Amino acid sequence: MRVRDYRRSDAEHLVEILKVNGQYEYPHVEGPDAMDRVAACGAAVALVAEVDGQVVGYIRAVYDGARALIHLLTVQPDYQRKGVGAALLAAVEVELRKRGATGTAVTVTEASLSYWERMGFKRVPAFLMLKEFDPE
Ligand SMILES: CC(C)(COP(=O)(O)OP(=O)(O)OC[C@H]1O[C@@H](n2cnc3c(N)ncnc32)[C@H](O)[C@@H]1OP(=O)(O)O)[C@@H](O)C(=O)NCCC(=O)NCCS
Repeated sequence: MRVRDYRRSDAEHLVEILKVNGQYEYPHVEGPDAMDRVAACGAAVALVAEVDGQVVGYIRAVYDGARALIHLLTVQPDYQRKGVGAALLAAVEVELRKRGATGTAVTVTEASLSYWERMGFKRVPAFLMLKEFDPE
């Protein structure tokens, strides 16, 4: 397995992974165009995991100079529980540390809480709230 930067050609397959994992609720935020915008953003980190030349996982995070936040982690179902998620998390931590981050938060679903706890994250008393902007 190797972890490398996201490339445009990864997008379609990543969308398939997101769909089967039930993580494609907001295509304007998770789709190929959004993936490209994230990759072009200097504050963002977008990495993929590759096994035998096939992309099997994706992580993205952002560091604004003070706080880091992991927005998305996904692993193709038939490659889950093989260390792919852990490898992506380790790689993103290396990159975030390089930029100056001293830790990272993550947005999680209830179903994945035990995974994040297993990976060393602690629950904090905070909620994620969302406001979608009205079209102009
Ligand atoms: C959650 C997810 C990212 C984990 O990735 P993964 O590659 O399967 O996880 P890893 O193989 O790296 O597992 C690392 C450790 O966590 C454990 N683990 C994996 N999935 C777990 C789960 N759902 N609950 C609790 N522990 C879990 C593994 O057993 C392993 O423990 P070990 O180090 O003692 O062996 C992946 O299953 C996934 O994409 N799920 C669907 C989407 C999702 O829930 N993403 C996170 C949303 S915020």
